[in-house]
Amino acid sequence: MRVLVVHEDHVGLSLIRQTLRSAGFEVVATDSGLEAMEILSQGLSHLLVADWEHDGPMSGLSLCKTIRHEEMWGYVYIILITSRNLPRHRVEGLTAGADDFIGKPYDPAELVARVRSGERVLSMDTRNVAIFAMAKLAESRDPETGMHLERVQSYSRLLAQDLAATPQHGPEVTANFIRWVYLTSPLHDIGKVAIPDYVLLKPGRLTDREFSLMKTHTTLGANTIDIALKKFPDAEFLRIAREITSAHHERIDGTGYPRQLRGDEIPLSGRIVAVADVYDALTSRRLYKDAFTHDVAKSMILSGVGTQFDPEVVQAFLRLEDTFQNVRERFTEHPPVIT
Ligand SMILES: [Fe+2]
Ligand SMILES: [Fe+2]
Repeated sequence: MRVLVVHEDHVGLSLIRQTLRSAGFEVVATDSGLEAMEILSQGLSHLLVADWEHDGPMSGLSLCKTIRHEEMWGYVYIILITSRNLPRHRVEGLTAGADDFIGKPYDPAELVARVRSGERVLSMDTRNVAIFAMAKLAESRDPETGMHLERVQSYSRLLAQDLAATPQHGPEVTANFIRWVYLTSPLHDIGKVAIPDYVLLKPGRLTDREFSLMKTHTTLGANTIDIALKKFPDAEFLRIAREITSAHHERIDGTGYPRQLRGDEIPLSGRIVAVADVYDALTSRRLYKDAFTHDVAKSMILSGVGTQFDPEVVQAFLRLEDTFQNVRERFTEHPPVIT
């Protein structure tokens, strides 16, 4: 683990560096908040130890705020070293985005213990990265999908966040539900790793037999996640991942696959990803079609309300139309379609 230390006092800085190095950490040190931002924004470190009382152009506290404001490569765990020990100081630090504090004068053993605790939290973030990498690996066999997973992930989160504000779905759509839907929606097609190339990469229309084979990607994906669920039956994110892989092709009228579930029998996570996935497929170029404009995709989704799609999820989609288009432009590998 590489720890970034920001401290303007060179003696203090070299003591911290020494302590952490002898505990086995790799240390990058700087006395400049701006240089620290440069290192963090390149993803070169995810664990920061900063002096709150640092006076430079970017103090420990404003460094915290800037990190939380910027888009970073993964989570940055921040430990502030400070002589401010009152509860109101802690509140101020936490509000700015700090994760932990070490009082001055610091005890070397405590510094190492707190950095190790940050390392544990970050290993959970690594799990999220691993989930996404697995999904990307499955998707890599399909050369046309570009940034499909990133977009589906963002659309799904937007839909879930919108539904959280509705009276019907508010109780079910908790902050954790939103988080797990965001995190695991990229796994929706993971079962496609087991679909042969002649079906997966076929440019034309699939025969009935080929389509039946293609449909099995839902159960194949769910079965794979079941293996993990047996080992970790309480893992909520695995349960949601399983719902999504299994149910994203179900239709409200009961004519979808693999289980022909109807209406509310389809888990909400599956109903959300169904809209996100289809909207992205419609507005993206595929082997068998050009990209449709947002307006065409919207009217196709509207024509599926109550048959293919959950009307409430589509209502959320309509409330989020502009945001969806912004996401599409942000995560694009080709020039956006003019709408
Ligand atoms: Fe699928
Ligand atoms: Fe998809």
